[in-house]
Amino acid sequence: MYKTLLTSLEENIFTITINRPEKLNAINQTVMSELDAVMDEVYNSNEIRSVIITGAGTKSFVAGADIGEFLGLTIDEGRKLAQKGQDVFLKIEKSPKPVVAAVNGFALGGGHELAMSCHFRIASDNAKFGQPEVNLGLIPGYGGTQRLVQLIGKGRAIEMMISGNMIDANTALQFGLVNYVVPQVELMNKTRSVLSIVNSKGPLAVAKCIEAANAVFDETKNGYEVEMNGFGNCFGTQDMKEGATAFLQKRKAVFIGK
Ligand code: COA
Repeated sequence: MYKTLLTSLEENIFTITINRPEKLNAINQTVMSELDAVMDEVYNSNEIRSVIITGAGTKSFVAGADIGEFLGLTIDEGRKLAQKGQDVFLKIEKSPKPVVAAVNGFALGGGHELAMSCHFRIASDNAKFGQPEVNLGLIPGYGGTQRLVQLIGKGRAIEMMISGNMIDANTALQFGLVNYVVPQVELMNKTRSVLSIVNSKGPLAVAKCIEAANAVFDETKNGYEVEMNGFGNCFGTQDMKEGATAFLQKRKAVFIGK
């Protein structure tokens, strides 16, 4: 169905694999359009409860936007390229279903920006992170200047962006950019095991946690109000009644997403 993505669904966890290993999974326009389309699938599917984004092969998550498509772009076309990337990555960030990046190698430029648009990141021990756009006379264009500051703070973010230096997985862990670092062979199992715990929770409550956390960085929203409304609305769900009842009856809750 997709030319550049592989997808699979197992126990309600949907795995999206960017599949251009010969180009280290660089994001060309087809990959970007297909990420856009696959996120519609994520939003609309009743089967998908959570999502993993990863890259094909053992060397690279995504080594950036496809530099082969850059030469000859006008100023206006450059803006449009950034706009498209920002829109698609915002769709990932706003997904009501958790999206986790399983970073299995290079996460550079647009690949790093893709990983940062996910709700959190798990890295293999060979992962490398960077915003090397300055090497090309460019800056990050898919939300990276904003999300990197949000995730690791302004000083570290500016140094990464203006030096183009890569950081390794353990430095990323220390910076809070990734939640776990595991041996590469364990990366997908670790990611799945984290998500299988999330999938056992009430999906409406999970979605509201994401929405409230996103509101911190959305100037058009008052995060406390988003939290208050989300908290209040939970009382109108069957899942909240089930969760509280199950606790009081000392049994495991069965959530239905209503
Ligand atoms: N866009 C297009 N092609 C890319 C790419 C990108 N962002 N990153 C890697 N590739 C291609 C290479 O051109 C090469 O293709 P070829 O075999 O047809 O020549 C192939 O992927 C393998 O990459 P290669 O550079 O040979 O691997 P390496 O192990 O020597 O180096 C990197 C790996 C990641 C350090 C290096 O590929 C690199 O610096 N990539 C660009 C990263 C970047 O600047 N990203 C930001 C873009 S805005």
